[in-house]
Amino acid sequence: RKLDPTIIVIFGGGGDLTRRKLIPALHNLMLDNLLPQRCAIIGIGRRSMDDDTFRNHLKSGLEQFSRRGGSTEQPWDDFGSRISYVSEDVTSKESGAALTRRLNEIDSDWGVRANRIFYLAIPPSMMEPAAAMLQRMGVCRDCKRDRLVVEKPFGRDIASARTLNQLLSGMFVESQIYRIDHFLGKETVQNILAFRFANSLFEPVWNRRYIDHVQITVAETVGVENRANFFEQSGALRDMIQNHLLQILCLVAMEPPISFDADEVRNKKVDVLRAIRPILADDVHKSAVRGQYARGFVEGQAVAGYREESGVSPHSCTETYVALKLLIDNWRWQGVPFYLRTGKRLPAKVSEVSIIFRSPPHQLFPSAAVDNWQPNRIVIKIQPEEGINTRIQVKQPGTRLLLGEADMRFRYGEAFKAAAPEAYETLLLDAIRGDATLFMRADQVECAWNVVSPILAAWEAVPPADFPDYPAGSWGPEAADRMIARGGHNWLQPG
Ligand code: BG6
Repeated sequence: RKLDPTIIVIFGGGGDLTRRKLIPALHNLMLDNLLPQRCAIIGIGRRSMDDDTFRNHLKSGLEQFSRRGGSTEQPWDDFGSRISYVSEDVTSKESGAALTRRLNEIDSDWGVRANRIFYLAIPPSMMEPAAAMLQRMGVCRDCKRDRLVVEKPFGRDIASARTLNQLLSGMFVESQIYRIDHFLGKETVQNILAFRFANSLFEPVWNRRYIDHVQITVAETVGVENRANFFEQSGALRDMIQNHLLQILCLVAMEPPISFDADEVRNKKVDVLRAIRPILADDVHKSAVRGQYARGFVEGQAVAGYREESGVSPHSCTETYVALKLLIDNWRWQGVPFYLRTGKRLPAKVSEVSIIFRSPPHQLFPSAAVDNWQPNRIVIKIQPEEGINTRIQVKQPGTRLLLGEADMRFRYGEAFKAAAPEAYETLLLDAIRGDATLFMRADQVECAWNVVSPILAAWEAVPPADFPDYPAGSWGPEAADRMIARGGHNWLQPG
């Protein structure tokens, strides 16, 4: 389908996300011929800068961060010529005139009123003034053609998320608002729904009768990097669990939607979030573990502890690791624990979901044959490996009856030749096309905050006694092992 002429306006144009993710994604979309033929990109920032300086700043980022590297000159020239920069101080009541002028210039050059996407890649405190500026300018009024993309974090708790939702819904209609969770754009995350609902093999066993428990791990080797300012105010529960891990959980646990329509899919996800058993204040210590990394070794390199990182308070109580046990009170999942964990400075960058099945109801093999018994397991590998392993028991070769484990392996790279798009490519293209399926609706965000609210409250009330409590390069605090062991389980080693 031919795409309508589109102007993408990025608030936070000079920021890290624009250079690392958004511009490389838009450039790759252009190289794949997926951008509208008429497509302009406007960066907005407080600093004054000319177009060429802005373009050079973005171009050097492309060389560093694009999945294709710098690519050739020619495509950049074409791409670069679509980019311009407008300086606006959104906090000033007079702001907006320069942007309005730029938008009108482009429209009159093209001879059409283009679709407009306003991408808010700015901190939460700037959302309100930026939205107010757009409203004042009247440039985002066409609810079919004008859209707002809102980056995370979406609030810092349930109250601020509600306030932001109310503010936005007073200015725009819900169908114009695209709240981003970039994990939802990852191929392997989208594949969870394909795997579950496009095959008749797995769905019949995808429930409490056959599944013992589920583990979701998102492990990172990086520390806080240069984001201490942000992370000190956030912590891993807000930064990763409230959004990315809960969204993965929704995809694993949701009921089949009747169609792939955006609201059908999102309704089913909200059902999961609403069914998560609330954690009582007195039980937070049983179901949630927080941790903070001390100095240690990651991938052979000595690294500093979190409290020693620049911009971090030497007494910081911010968690860099979280493990949770969640239960879902519905027909399908009653009694099946979902264990979630995420952390920085863990031994490997690896994200995966493990579905661990129950043992067969009757063990008919002689005990000598099953000394290494492991139940079936499906491991959905999100990154860096992309694929699915289905672990089964087989007879080992030999004259004796001895069972052993084997994997049925699917890998994207082996099964398909085409390179996968980055999450931001998929999501930006969806926003351009007007498809909100992979974006968060207001109620989804609020339900997700409700899940983590009791934990936030309990942790804020009582500072951690033992931070830092895991050395960088380990799999997190021992308390997380004890938590899962209380349920009779143990963390599976990813990989
Ligand atoms: C972001 C978090 O949303 O996701 C970061 O703010 C985290 O702290 C990042 O590092 C991980 O994303 P990815 O795509 O690199 O796995």
